[in-house]
Amino acid sequence: MKKDLLHLGELSREDFRMLMDRALEMKARRRLGIIDRPFAGKVMGMVFDKASTRTRVSFESAWARLGGHPMFLSTGATQMSRSEPVKDTARVLSRYIDVLVIRTYAQDLIEEFAKWSSIPVINALSDRFHPCQILSDLLTVVELKGGFDKLVDLKFAWVGDGNNVAQSWINAAGVLGFSLMLACPEGYDPDGDVLALAEERFPGRVKVVRSPEEAMDGADVVYTDVWASMGQEEEQKKRENDFKGFCVDETRMKLAAKDALVLHCLPAHRGEEISDGVMESHPELWDQAENKMHMHAALLDCLVNK
Ligand code: CP
Ligand code: NVA
Repeated sequence: MKKDLLHLGELSREDFRMLMDRALEMKARRRLGIIDRPFAGKVMGMVFDKASTRTRVSFESAWARLGGHPMFLSTGATQMSRSEPVKDTARVLSRYIDVLVIRTYAQDLIEEFAKWSSIPVINALSDRFHPCQILSDLLTVVELKGGFDKLVDLKFAWVGDGNNVAQSWINAAGVLGFSLMLACPEGYDPDGDVLALAEERFPGRVKVVRSPEEAMDGADVVYTDVWASMGQEEEQKKRENDFKGFCVDETRMKLAAKDALVLHCLPAHRGEEISDGVMESHPELWDQAENKMHMHAALLDCLVNK
């Protein structure tokens, strides 16, 4: 049966471990200059409805460097923009390509693609989840904080909106059982069903609080993201007001563990959710961005070649 990646709640602890191990192995082989071509003769389709720098380029370069042909399809340039149904598009694309990577607004649309496709479908961000992001972020934590088995001992802090990236972090905590404290202003909590799933699996490990200082106190990993996600641009001004006091800056960083990592999925709005000084003093942010490419290679290999 074909496998998809729609959200992280559907993975097991062993799936996470396997993806981390495979990504580390592929990254090491690339560093040694070894040329592998696991995707030779294969085509990856990418249907993107929203802007992207990192996800698009890291998926395309991971696929192309490993011998495959990437095909980027802006939704507006396809017949989907003229109302061709997903169930028709999915069945047609499945006859041409080997894997489909989708970035769009509605999670339901990605799930409908998965339902009608006979090839693996990968969620490259929806309004609800960003699973690939958290897989590669965890790879960075695994590399910098002593390995996969150490994750469960770490304290993760989320500062900001309870958005798609936050919800994928909650999914991951619900599988791996690490401690995750999310500081979100009133009205910006993650969805109740996402929190409930993590609570059911690891009671008490995921908490939502109102104070960034409380979440960051002693944190080993501090994570933030933009206050207004793609599609929420008209709320920018209101959000700037509602998120006052939620900037990951030098003063608040003093509360975190001395050797705390700062992660941000990027793009960042310096001076809003994160200060310029914190960004410039945490070079792991660039390792985090690089790791998207290695994790995407591993994910594609596991879904397409296994
Ligand atoms: N982090 C991330 O998904 O970045 P892009 O929007 O640039 O793809
Ligand atoms: N929450 C952000 C993440 C971008 C990678 C957004 O959805 O715009």
